[in-house]
This record gives sequence, structure tokens and C-alpha cells, in this order.
Amino acid sequence: MNDEPTGALAGRRCLITGAASGIGAAIATAFDRAGATLALADLDGDQLERSAASRNASRHPVDLTDPPAVTALVEDVLEQHGQIDVLVNCAGILTEVPLIDMDLATWQRMIDVDLTTVFLTCRAVVPHMLAANGGRIINIASQLGQKGGSGLTHYSAAKAGVIGFTKALAREVSARGVLVNAIAPGPISTPMIDGLSQEWKSAKEAELPLGRFGLPYEVAPTALLLASDPGGNLYTGQTLGPNSGDVMA
Ligand SMILES: NC(=O)c1ccc[n+]([C@@H]2O[C@H](COP(=O)([O-])OP(=O)(O)OC[C@H]3O[C@@H](n4cnc5c(N)ncnc54)[C@H](O)[C@@H]3O)[C@@H](O)[C@H]2O)c1
Repeated sequence: MNDEPTGALAGRRCLITGAASGIGAAIATAFDRAGATLALADLDGDQLERSAASRNASRHPVDLTDPPAVTALVEDVLEQHGQIDVLVNCAGILTEVPLIDMDLATWQRMIDVDLTTVFLTCRAVVPHMLAANGGRIINIASQLGQKGGSGLTHYSAAKAGVIGFTKALAREVSARGVLVNAIAPGPISTPMIDGLSQEWKSAKEAELPLGRFGLPYEVAPTALLLASDPGGNLYTGQTLGPNSGDVMA
């Protein structure tokens, strides 16, 4: 009997960062069900073990803000899986601080984790995708990078940076088969949101046309679309918005 996976991502080797929790874990689950071979990376190695989507996934505890660690991660994944066909950049942090109270370290940390990690992983993975004449990169931005969020200048700037980076990289590499897109979710109920004040969350909920936050499994199908063939074939440089109507493009 042939037990080769037959799903939309059968045979695709996918590296997902931030895979231990929330949206990244949901994307890992969806990709696993679609037949992908998974490499899951996260700072939180224990949580990665507990929540890893597939028993067959390789797990990579790593601090993605550390450039040599990112290089080692990509080398390790290539050694174990042979190639990276799909890269999903989902690792991130969120803090809520009014601008007038924000120290430089808080600003810098946000840029390092939510923007520079995307640069580092893409810089390490793109040469291998170009050599293979193809690949998909999906960067998880945020609708706050499109419309801004009070108390979130650092986060909004980092996520707007992810959207700009995505467009620029798409222009650089799409003609060689590497398609680069962003997803800008609206508020999604994950551990990340626990860090926001109740006041912020209530105000945000009231402002959403759908009147509710999303759930991680409701974002994952957008990533699946962008990673798959033919669904994702015509998307590059785009920012897709599963956002409860918070931003209407
Ligand atoms: N939850 C939301 O409302 C929402 C909305 C829009 C965008 N996003 C974005 O979606 C992504 C996932 O967020 P989430 O809500 O699932 O949060 P989450 O906190 O559940 O998951 C984030 C993961 O990133 C990992 N991480 C953080 N810093 C890291 C580092 N330096 N190296 C490696 N891993 C690191 C964490 O350990 C965690 O497992 C983030 O980029 C976030 O900004 C979230």
C-alpha cells in the first residue's frame, strides 16, 4: 500500500518559527494535516515539545534574534530535510507601552524580535530557495502595521516594517520562483494577547466589524493558501488580512 501523504502540501518541507504557541502552532497543525514535512522553531523548547503538531516534525529550540543561531538553525534543517520549500515567520512578541514612557531598550527589543528575525531567517533561507528555483515565504505581520495601535508604536512600526520588507523581497526574488507574502491578522486569542490591558482589548473588540477576536485555527488556512499550489501561485508581495474587518484593503 502506498502511504505517501497526498495533501495540498505533500512533499513540501516547511520551516515554521514561533511554532510552539498560538498562530504558529495552528499553522503547524494545518500544514501537518496537509501532508507537509515540518521543522518547528521556537525560543520555548519545552512548549515546542508539548505542542508540536507532528510526531515526525523536527524541533529546533532557538533564539531567532541571535544571528549565528539562525544560521545554525537553517543548516540543521537543511541537513535533516534536504531543503526548505516554505518558510513561515511567525515568532513575535507584544508589549503595550505609551510612547512617552518607552525606553530605547523596549523599542529596540521589539524591532529585534518582530522585524530583524524576519530579515535573518529570510537572508539564510532565500539562497537555497533561489538555488532550487522556487519557494514560498510567509511573514506574519499584523493589521496594526497597517492602521497602528495606541500604546503600540514599537509593535506597529515593526509590523509595518515586515510588510515593507515583504514587498521589497517579493520584487527582488519572485521572477526566480520565490513568492513572498505577508499575513496581517487582526486580534487573535493567543497567549500574546494576554499581555494587553483589558481596557485595550474591550475597546478593540467594540471597534471590530465582526465584533470578536479570531482564533488561531482561523488564520492557518490563509497560510495554507499561500503555501499551496495552485492556490498561492499568483500571490506575491501581498498582505492578506484575516482581521475581523479591522482593516479593509
Ligand atoms: N495574537 C494576535 O492578536 C496577533 C495579531 C496579529 C499578528 N500577530 C502575530 O502573530 C505571530 C504569532 O503570535 P501569537 O499571537 O501566536 O503569539 P504567541 O505568543 O502565542 O506565540 C509567539 C511565539 O513566538 C516565540 N518567540 C518569541 N520570541 C522569539 C525568539 N526570539 N526566537 C524564537 N521564538 C520566539 C514565542 O516563544 C512564542 O511561542 C506574531 O508575530 C504576532 O505578532 C498576532
